[in-house]
Amino acid sequence: MICLAISVTCVPECKNNGTCVSQNNCSCPSGYTGPTCEIQSVGLCRDNEILDKKPILLVTFGNGLSKYSQLTPDRFNFSTTYKQQFQPTTYDGSFSFINRVPNDFNNDWHTDATDHTGDPGGYMFLINADEKPGQFYNGTVNNLCIGLRYEFSVYLANIMKLTGRIKPSVRFEVRSPSLGNRLLAQLSSGDVPEDTTLAWRKYGLSFIAPSSTVVLLMISDAPGGGGNDLAIDDIALTVCSHKGSGFCPS
Ligand SMILES: *[C@@H]1O[C@H](CO)[C@@H](O)[C@H](O)[C@H]1NC(C)=O
Ligand SMILES: *[C@@H]1O[C@H](CO)[C@@H](O)[C@H](O)[C@H]1NC(C)=O
Repeated sequence: MICLAISVTCVPECKNNGTCVSQNNCSCPSGYTGPTCEIQSVGLCRDNEILDKKPILLVTFGNGLSKYSQLTPDRFNFSTTYKQQFQPTTYDGSFSFINRVPNDFNNDWHTDATDHTGDPGGYMFLINADEKPGQFYNGTVNNLCIGLRYEFSVYLANIMKLTGRIKPSVRFEVRSPSLGNRLLAQLSSGDVPEDTTLAWRKYGLSFIAPSSTVVLLMISDAPGGGGNDLAIDDIALTVCSHKGSGFCPS
């Protein structure tokens, strides 16, 4: 009988207690992902960990009397690969800051539904997602405390009323500019379901900050065209399980 000893090695080695299961193939424990388990992949913090905490970042998009806000993403400290529309009608790859869901497609959307914040005339970030993956949101936050856990959260709503269409899906990423833009954390919302009335749900991830500045990203994770139409509101970054503010100005 011939016995072959098969030795498998992973180079670079598996991190965060990942197991090398075959040549250069790491099996990651829960909470980690990526080729060497180097990327954090943990959901939102529990409510009692962030209760009454003032977010370090909160973007509600403000409010106003006119249906379309004239403010641009730079006023909210972020950039996007989508094109802003200040009047009807949205097309694939465009967005508006708007205080009611418009009726751009024969009532296929939840026409006249309002934002999540609930303030009169409150604006939301309404997107008709592109066929190609795009970046909804790229924002930088400074003065985080290294080693603390933070929650990057947002409220999402599928604005489509019809069933059986492409559902929106958003990939959340956290990157560190001072560490060569390294991907620190990543998690997908999965399909955001359609409902009989517009329903806002909280999504996002949590991560431990290895640097005081991080870039927060929301990326389209589903094809556009006939679906993948969504609204975003109340983008927040909040410290979890910590008595202080979670704010560490240098
Ligand atoms: C944008 O960033 C500036 C400087 O960090 C800050 O003062 C301001 O409050 C931010 N605006 C929003 C809407 O977050
Ligand atoms: C996010 O935007 C910054 C500039 O504001 C840019 O340097 C960076 O490359 C962008 N990140 C990604 C992943 O696109």
